Amino acid sequence: MKIAIYNARPYDKLYFDRFNRAYHHELHYLDTHLDEETLMLSQGAPAICIFVDDPVDRGLLKKMRAQGTQLIALRSAGFNHVDIPSANELGIAVANVPGYSPYAVAEHATGMILCLIRRLIRAHARIREGNFSLEGLMGFDLYGKTVGIVGTGTIGTVFARIMHGFGCRLLGTDPVESPECRELGLQYVNLPTLCRQSDIISLHCPLLPETQYLIDDEAIAEMRDGICLINTSRGAVVDTAALIRGLKTGKIGFLGLDVYEEEDDLFFEDYSDSVLGDDVFARLLTFNNVLITGHQAYFTREAITNIAKTTLANVTEFETIGECSNQLIAP
Ligand code: NAI
Repeated sequence: MKIAIYNARPYDKLYFDRFNRAYHHELHYLDTHLDEETLMLSQGAPAICIFVDDPVDRGLLKKMRAQGTQLIALRSAGFNHVDIPSANELGIAVANVPGYSPYAVAEHATGMILCLIRRLIRAHARIREGNFSLEGLMGFDLYGKTVGIVGTGTIGTVFARIMHGFGCRLLGTDPVESPECRELGLQYVNLPTLCRQSDIISLHCPLLPETQYLIDDEAIAEMRDGICLINTSRGAVVDTAALIRGLKTGKIGFLGLDVYEEEDDLFFEDYSDSVLGDDVFARLLTFNNVLITGHQAYFTREAITNIAKTTLANVTEFETIGECSNQLIAP
């Protein structure tokens, strides 16, 4: 099947070309984002392949249907950037790549925690300056601390396993309980209790209407002073302005962000020669206890391999039987 792959970066091309030898799809790479103007570049391709920074709303879906698009193949697990109910209604199939590497994201969250609580970036910068003083670098042990996990799905469960290995007490909140987390001794509580009792909180729930700004002023007020908060889920699960207020008062002692609510205008591009126009993001960068990565948590060899293979398999399955097992249906 002809697949128009939008927003294709060199590493996408490398991995898709490598694995397409087994699938024989006709891959048409496009360097641009998908929007109403660039949609015409995919004319004649029944399948369109996009990443998380290509939002698809109802208006665009209608144009896709008029153009003959049959399948939107997401190169991601998250699908909050696509209007799934409208796609279902308009008869355009949408398929994602679930659980392509929960280890990548869970390990990245762990890396952020260690970097922050042991002040590794500050220490590295100091050593490069010839400053070997330990003043201001004191950290704390993870062993024996309470870790709160918001969303104990695929990634949250792997993260729970890792934190269990460090000897942490585990708390979780999720409308659907994970038997594996329970076996690890994780105790399910509501969000306010999790906030009150945790030393570290890591977010692993999807962005849904009910999880938007789940972490707001009220939730932050419940947290322990000096909390270490990590968000590798989606930017809008937290209210960024509330985070800044929490950092200013010291309520938030450490903040690790791999995602940002306005990331579509920033992440995945090189703006090093431009002036940063986002004042909220610029404010976040002024705190020495904030660590930010640009939606990089998923980015491992293993994850990119699985994304390429599963996306190509999704298209093959759709081409063969007119639907595929990773198809997304609105509840
Ligand atoms: P999953 O669907 O396996 O798990 C999500 C869990 O969140 C489910 O158990 C669900 O019941 C739970 N949940 C739903 N509403 C909740 C609520 N109100 N409070 C607490 N928990 C709630 O998804 P998976 O694979 O674990 O991924 C989680 C999220 O991680 C994705 O939706 C995506 O946003 C993000 N992600 C980020 C990546 C990155 O590179 N930073 C890469 C991949 C995923």
